[in-house]
Amino acid sequence: MALEGRKIVVTGVTGQVAEPVAKLLARDNDVHGAARFTDDDARARLEAAGVTCVRVDLATGDVADLPADADYVLNFAVAKSGEWDADLDANAGGVLWLMEHHRAARAFLHCSSTAVYQPDGHRAFRETDPLGDNHRVWSFLETYSICKIAAEGAARWGAARHGLPTTIARLSVPYGDHGGWPAIHLEMMLAGAPVEVHRDAPSVYHPIHEQDIVASLPGLLAAAATPATTVNWGGSEAVSIEDWCAHLGELTGVKPRFEATDATIASVALDLARMHEVTGVTRVHWKDGMRRMVEALHPELLTA
Ligand SMILES: NC(=O)c1ccc[n+]([C@@H]2O[C@H](COP(=O)([O-])OP(=O)(O)OC[C@H]3O[C@@H](n4cnc5c(N)ncnc54)[C@H](OP(=O)(O)O)[C@@H]3O)[C@@H](O)[C@H]2O)c1
Repeated sequence: MALEGRKIVVTGVTGQVAEPVAKLLARDNDVHGAARFTDDDARARLEAAGVTCVRVDLATGDVADLPADADYVLNFAVAKSGEWDADLDANAGGVLWLMEHHRAARAFLHCSSTAVYQPDGHRAFRETDPLGDNHRVWSFLETYSICKIAAEGAARWGAARHGLPTTIARLSVPYGDHGGWPAIHLEMMLAGAPVEVHRDAPSVYHPIHEQDIVASLPGLLAAAATPATTVNWGGSEAVSIEDWCAHLGELTGVKPRFEATDATIASVALDLARMHEVTGVTRVHWKDGMRRMVEALHPELLTA
């Protein structure tokens, strides 16, 4: 399925993940980007790239200005205020408001997170594995895992209630020219701060470059179904924080310093068999992706 000539709603459009997605899709599609637009600069950047910006508030169900005749909806919005009522309303309730409004769409993609898995050492999580409060260990993301699980429940109900073909994609570590967790680690390295890793080493994830995120959208939308399809979504290679920071160090000459602790999130390695059936393997090798990230964010640092 080619994503061309479609009307596509992208929520969370000012966010790290959705902004580059919306801009790329706007080259060949009629893209409507939704957020509260607390960031005026983001609105200007998006409009310059051809995205029609629509103000919504998912917490209150203020979605009426979105085009109800959209072909596809990509829900990348997430609320992380730390207030339980507000975050449940925006994340779980928000999915339901959106699905009701867009019940005539061809497919609905709900972006979830691998933060829904109950930590279990170095197990490679499958979609059927137990869910749990993965991110509670980080006080600044206290509501995150539980709200992401609640939102998945809402998406499952919305798919069934409205007969709306839906995919719930559990994203691992998104990164690229617009930043991401590895970019935060690079900033910490530059500031001379230690990078926290879990004591149960190594801290393994599946970083996925923004180019691969966009490339996987047709497959994820084609897999949308009722009941909803749930699929892990990450780069095909498992990479540890230790390894990507070491590589960033090789690229920039800044040596990472690690701090092993139990007070950080544990490994979330993934079984990507289902994703590979749906989207194929990812294309951007993590070392190339990290180099491109440094080139985009700190070109002056590249030494290798
Ligand atoms: N970034 C990661 O490392 C990571 C990892 C795994 C999964 N994910 C998932 O990927 C998706 C995108 O994450 P992200 O990091 O790009 O998020 P982000 O940068 O925090 O952006 C969140 C977006 O949601 C919008 N939003 C927040 N509250 C809203 C509300 N009440 N109504 C409407 N829009 C609202 C924000 O815009 P306004 O504030 O202007 O409304 C913003 O556009 C999420 O589903 C997240 O769980 C992210």
